[in-house]
Amino acid sequence: MSENSYARIIPLVDQRPAALPIPNPKSGIASLLPATGLLSDTRGRALRDLRISVTDRCNFRCSYCMPKDVFTKDYPYLPHASLLTFEEITRIAGQFVAHGVQKIRLTGGEPLLRKNIEVLIEQLSALRTPEGETLDLTLTTNGALLARKAAALKAAGLNRLTVSLDGLDDAVFRAMNDVDFPVRDVLDGIEAAHQVGLGPIKVNMVVKRGTNDNQILPMARHFKGTGIVLRFIEYMDVGATNGWRMNDVLPSAEVVHLLQQELPLIALEATQPGETAQRWGYADAAGRHDKAAGEIGVISSVTQAFCSDCNRARLSTEGQLYLCLFASQGYNLRDLVRGGHADEELASAIAHIWGGRSDRYSELRGSEGAAPMGDGKRRVEMSYIGG
Ligand code: GTP
Ligand code: 5AD
Ligand code: SF4
Ligand code: SF4
Repeated sequence: MSENSYARIIPLVDQRPAALPIPNPKSGIASLLPATGLLSDTRGRALRDLRISVTDRCNFRCSYCMPKDVFTKDYPYLPHASLLTFEEITRIAGQFVAHGVQKIRLTGGEPLLRKNIEVLIEQLSALRTPEGETLDLTLTTNGALLARKAAALKAAGLNRLTVSLDGLDDAVFRAMNDVDFPVRDVLDGIEAAHQVGLGPIKVNMVVKRGTNDNQILPMARHFKGTGIVLRFIEYMDVGATNGWRMNDVLPSAEVVHLLQQELPLIALEATQPGETAQRWGYADAAGRHDKAAGEIGVISSVTQAFCSDCNRARLSTEGQLYLCLFASQGYNLRDLVRGGHADEELASAIAHIWGGRSDRYSELRGSEGAAPMGDGKRRVEMSYIGG
């Protein structure tokens, strides 16, 4: 059996299972939980980060995310009517912000494929926290359309940007995206984003042992001193189609060790609670952080889980709320929104759902390999839930 034959024999529509029941959707006003700006789950974790997937489609076919033999032209992508409209997204996001969300990240699939995405950005950038602050509004893109769209994104109110880039060598990059897309165009997109002031820009590189690990040093050399923060991500067992094996994971400790041979690094403090990346600064001759040279990050969800302060919620393209990247079911907020429920009811449902959250998949997985799925169900794909 090939790595992906499991995906072929299970009907693909099964990847979007029935939603979990929304707690107290129709309860009387007296029992509604109001937004207080501070929610806590069963493990004491606040809600600070909302990641919104705006499309389940992508123009790349990275094997770790949307393998070509599964995501064919016959794949059952969401029909247009299933997608949340921009108004629905903004309404839901507004309730999350009332509950304490400070950062919103637009993801996909590839978010720049969603028509008029800058209109959504304009709407989201008008939201304010309960303290009256603006949000940290960002977006993750593969960069293919960035050169064309950077100026419009900036004008619409996007603050900053993260670009996925898995190698500098053109042949390696074309093999990683599996659609023969040239690296030059992504680098031009990054440059365009830099020019219009969409910063600080981060570049995320998923490292697969034996596939693109020879790109670690060239990527570090290329971005050192540019102000762009390069982050190395351990390849994860997310979704159910990428044929993940522990052998393909290059632990972050090895990435740091490799870099240290040529580019001395020193550990830096986290800037925010719940951060995904461990930060390392380039060291100067005296062993201090050389700020002009900048920093890198490593994201080690496999070998060093960071669930203990995970403050991230995910809203799928069709309005399902997921409490973990590795969840198999979400809560259907779209039904609430389209069912004529008031904002107070929406806010209360979010409060109940977050209040009952106990997810910590990566901690339970351990470093030896994927844990059996707790509920025996198929995990959602990252292209559907957002990265
Ligand atoms: P910044 O605010 O820019 O630091 O972004 P971030 O690191 O919070 O988000 P980003 O989307 O850049 O995350 C980078 C990668 O880390 C993702 O593509 C995932 O591979 C991984 N990641 C992000 N969030 C989670 C999470 O909650 N759990 C796990 N296991 N991995 C995550
Ligand atoms: N492992 C780690 N990161 C992944 N991403 C997608 N699939 C995986 C995976 N299996 C992340 C990458 C990519 C972003 C869109 O999602 O960071 O840049
Ligand atoms: Fe597309 Fe990003 Fe997934 Fe690659 S990782 S297939 S660019 S959504
Ligand atoms: Fe958060 Fe789940 Fe990722 Fe752990 S595995 S950090 S709980 S999203």
